[in-house]
Amino acid sequence: MNKWWLSGIAVVALLVAAAYKVMAQTGEENKTMDTQNAKILIAYYSYSGNTKEVAEAIQKEIGGDLFEIKAEGTYPDEYRPMTEQAKKEIGAGFRPKLTTSVADMAQYDIVFIGSPNWWGTITPQVSSFLESYDLSGKTVIPFVTHGGGGQQNTIADLTAQCKGCKVNSDGWVGYGSRTLGIGSWLEDLGFKK
Ligand SMILES: Cc1cc2nc3c(=O)[nH]c(=O)nc-3n(C[C@H](O)[C@H](O)[C@H](O)COP(=O)(O)O)c2cc1C
Repeated sequence: MNKWWLSGIAVVALLVAAAYKVMAQTGEENKTMDTQNAKILIAYYSYSGNTKEVAEAIQKEIGGDLFEIKAEGTYPDEYRPMTEQAKKEIGAGFRPKLTTSVADMAQYDIVFIGSPNWWGTITPQVSSFLESYDLSGKTVIPFVTHGGGGQQNTIADLTAQCKGCKVNSDGWVGYGSRTLGIGSWLEDLGFKK
């Protein structure tokens, strides 16, 4: 074998080793959370109550501080006009002004962030929340409720909008206010009651 072959094999071996390292680190991120000593915040936006129920179920299982994301503005009472307004807001990248605030975000190590699926993504209120706080370095665990569409772009968009945070890829995605399975999901993430 000539030296060109040998250096080619060496380059390929190095690339494979680097790829494995990146994959291992990504997996590590989900596993190395110190769940036992962590200070936990469970922040959520909920328009009709489902995401609130999931947030409360998480708190019941593992404790932590509950925080409801609220913002200025109202929606029409009727369902279709309400959804149309939300669609326009999302399309325009609207960021409503928040009316509730977290007293001391710096104290939290793990932040659960809950959003309903609105038109395949997170709600404008949750986007405002993500842009209002420095969540860099924190472990963020998303939870999403939906009406049949599943996760769609919710978790990907939340991850993109959460600058510098370590978003856990094993978020909760549940239909409506379903909470069955919350305990085992949290256990899989490393939390104990
Ligand atoms: C404006 C709006 C848009 C919605 N878009 C979707 C959607 O694209 N996919 C889906 O599965 N559910 C959709 N839903 C249903 C909600 O995600 C679902 O009912 C959710 O559990 C509501 O959470 P909440 O009760 O905490 O507000 C939408 C609901 C609303 C109000």
